[in-house]
Amino acid sequence: MASGREADVYALGGGVVLRRYRDGGDAAPEAAVMKYAAGLGYPVPRVYRADGPEIEMERLDGPTMAGAYLSGELLPEAAAGIMADLLGRLHALPGRAGAGSIVHLDLHPDNIVLTPGGPVVIDWRNAGDGDPDFDTALTALILAQVAIGSIDHEIGADAGAMLSHLLRLVPGDPLAQLDNVVAFRAGQWTMSAEEVADLPRAAALVRESA
Ligand SMILES: Nc1ncnc2c1ncn2[C@@H]1O[C@H](COP(=O)(O)OP(=O)(O)OP(=O)(O)O)[C@@H](O)[C@H]1O
Ligand SMILES: [Mg+2]
Repeated sequence: MASGREADVYALGGGVVLRRYRDGGDAAPEAAVMKYAAGLGYPVPRVYRADGPEIEMERLDGPTMAGAYLSGELLPEAAAGIMADLLGRLHALPGRAGAGSIVHLDLHPDNIVLTPGGPVVIDWRNAGDGDPDFDTALTALILAQVAIGSIDHEIGADAGAMLSHLLRLVPGDPLAQLDNVVAFRAGQWTMSAEEVADLPRAAALVRESA
């Protein structure tokens, strides 16, 4: 059905998809955080089974937010509003270890599906307990990477407009953890050397846009 950078997604029929990590890692932590968030009312696909690198989950109906944006269904401000709302609601969920909140650490327009029942967040592999400002700064940095053309995405420069609106709408302080987020992002295996080299420029755009 789809192949991302980390996983392949198969439609199994009956409203179920199978997502399998290509590197063979353990999907249990991802399934656990999805179930925890769902239990607190957060919009996440229902998990049916997790085993080794595989998760079977509810098949969502609808375009990703990136897809909807590219087909002209949303303005940048509305896209930013959806992201800000999803971040704010996520960060209201207490962390499981008693400190901080739940954080997603990859919440961007390709990881939001616009279903008839509302936006739903997918791709929870990086999720866990953490600092909400860190998560927000990471979303902002990803948008900035797209806006400056460092990450090649069809949304392109429009991500800069989403970024400005997002920074206005998000709760918390989106700049407080930005330096730490740049260091974290530089260490992610999905980043190329060129993308890492462009991170200071992306971070500068986040600061200018705030
Ligand atoms: N529960 C679901 N229902 C419907 N479609 C899904 C579901 N989960 C994932 N998809 C589809 O599969 C795509 C990839 O999923 P996901 O983002 O989880 O994988 P990924 O490998 O981590 O991707 P990327 O590296 O691109 O972020 C999504 O963009 C979406 O189109
Ligand atoms: Mg994804």
